Amino acid sequence: MNIIDYIKEKQREILVGRLTSDNFQNFLSENSEEMTSLLTYYKCALMKVETKFKILNEEFSLVHDRNPIESIKTRIKKMDSIVEKVGRYGVPLTVDSIEKNIKDIAGCRVICSFPEDIYTLANCVLDHDDVTLVEIKDYIKTPKESGYRSLHLIISIPIFLESQRKDMKVEIQFRTIAMDFWASLEHKLRYKKGLPPKLNEKLSKELLECAQISSDLDARMERIRNQIMQASNKQ
Ligand code: GTP
Ligand code: MG
Repeated sequence: MNIIDYIKEKQREILVGRLTSDNFQNFLSENSEEMTSLLTYYKCALMKVETKFKILNEEFSLVHDRNPIESIKTRIKKMDSIVEKVGRYGVPLTVDSIEKNIKDIAGCRVICSFPEDIYTLANCVLDHDDVTLVEIKDYIKTPKESGYRSLHLIISIPIFLESQRKDMKVEIQFRTIAMDFWASLEHKLRYKKGLPPKLNEKLSKELLECAQISSDLDARMERIRNQIMQASNKQ
């Protein structure tokens, strides 16, 4: 870990510690009902998003005789991570502010077979009438410095409750199996505390190389897939 990352991590620890110890406890005891409702709404929005992808996967298998989705994972952000982000962003610790500012409380990770499938699925979902694009980060076209690759969308989707409609934000991360494999190992390294800085630097460099190798492999497998498809179309 370089010195800047180290300082950032310490700042985060201090912020979480400060929030956890005083305001956080008060906030939770005063807003537990509202927060429980909010997290339930996010859960409902996630159910809708997951269903959309399951339907698209079924349709693909019907029409194209293949499944573009390897797996779908969903998660609701833990309360301590929400508070850590509130502290990091320097926004007020209120239920409204959490809903407005923290855009990845509901997260859906879609693991695809090939890079092309990522864009096909993202475009399909963005075409749906009830989906609005809030933000897009294409770390496949422009990978992060670490080597991280993934397509991130923040979308807004309505849920219909007993007597109201609520528009909820959901973060969707699209990755190939190779991108996901890389990200999970790199995540382990990033959160591994106490590694000697030199070793950390060496491993980060090696992981960056692995990211390039896995991206090349993704591209190569996709080319093979396309040749197989072309050949079978001609038959
Ligand atoms: P935060 O969400 O506050 O972290 O910042 P941001 O909104 O700028 O984040 P971004 O959209 O770039 O990434 C959010 C999520 O993507 C993270 O929570 C991770 O799941 C994943 N991610 C981003 N960068 C990396 C990376 O370098 N390595 C790994 N393993 N995951 C990453
Ligand atoms: Mg984010």
